[in-house]
Amino acid sequence: MSKRLLVLTGGGDCPGLNAVIRAIVKRAAQEKDWEIIGSIESFNGILREPTEIVVLDEHKVAGIHVQGGTIIGTVNKGGPFAWPVKNQDGSWSTVDRSDEMIRKLSYMGIDAVINIGGDGSQRISQKLFKKGLNIIGVPKTIDNDLAATDFTFGFQTAVQIATEAVDKLVTTAASHNRVFILEVMGRDAGWIAAHSAIAGGADVCLIPEIPYKLDKVIEKVNSRYHNGRGFCNIVVAEGAKPHGGTFTGEDMHEIGNEHIKLGGIGEKLRHDLINAGIEADVRTVVLGHLQRGGIPMAYDRVLATEFGVKAFEMVLENKFGHMVAYHHPHIVAVSFEEALIHPKIVSSKGDIVRTAKGVGIEFGD
Ligand code: F6P
Repeated sequence: MSKRLLVLTGGGDCPGLNAVIRAIVKRAAQEKDWEIIGSIESFNGILREPTEIVVLDEHKVAGIHVQGGTIIGTVNKGGPFAWPVKNQDGSWSTVDRSDEMIRKLSYMGIDAVINIGGDGSQRISQKLFKKGLNIIGVPKTIDNDLAATDFTFGFQTAVQIATEAVDKLVTTAASHNRVFILEVMGRDAGWIAAHSAIAGGADVCLIPEIPYKLDKVIEKVNSRYHNGRGFCNIVVAEGAKPHGGTFTGEDMHEIGNEHIKLGGIGEKLRHDLINAGIEADVRTVVLGHLQRGGIPMAYDRVLATEFGVKAFEMVLENKFGHMVAYHHPHIVAVSFEEALIHPKIVSSKGDIVRTAKGVGIEFGD
């Protein structure tokens, strides 16, 4: 009798998700007796009635490693521990449906689950593992902010996209003597901002980990102009904040999603620079979800494929309660406890900031 493996993708999408799915399916096909099922939109496909699942065979996943997004969809709200329900008065609340879901998976003959997702998804994996589910995690985030793994797939693609944006803004800024502010993703960690600032040769880089002083930014901008001529490129992570200030964004007001929707720090900085008397024309570009869409670059396809193959092999070894991780040069298994203990943030004293400062990039500290 064949065994059944459930695969799902949760949280924000990320270039490389499809390459993981394909790798799991292709590796499993070598074992002959495994059937791979995809749950549509994370665990929500299992929790819905009728159930929304899809059989993932080699035909279904052929060539998908070059595609962005995820063929089985993803969500960052709902899930087994916070299922939204509408109350009689029209308000919403959430209920824990995890026990019911585990019973349903058993009824469906699911032997193991691979959950591909970021820290939020892996916290769900950990809780389900503690309740007895045979589950393995595969980390994903363009932000690269999971401490247990050297890199997550999607990060290099996001950095490449952000770097190409800096490259483009440099030529137009130089032509018009302008200041350009490029707002990139990075909720809690400034890895995308720091890498793209170095790669693109930006002048200022503002990240969540180092609250910036406006005076320092102004000083750097002014140093880039002589007799009104010059230009300045600023890369700012969406989670950056001024010294003594807070994040720029808005509450989601969405049941089952506690995230603050970040965005707007670039525009805030533009106004602050203008109000401070910067004479040059200051413009803002928000890169947004362009960093998450589109085809993964080769590095991310390879890392995602390594993660997918390893995740399936961990299923064969009954290594449940663990997450795949990259510890150069090896692909390893780490426990959920170890994986989730703390995020990986940019250290103000670390190599990437030292390198950036070494080539004159101002962090505003
Ligand atoms: O965690 C990855 C990320 O891209 C963050 O940098 C960003 O804040 C968030 O996702 C945006 O998520 P959403 O698309 O749900 O607004």
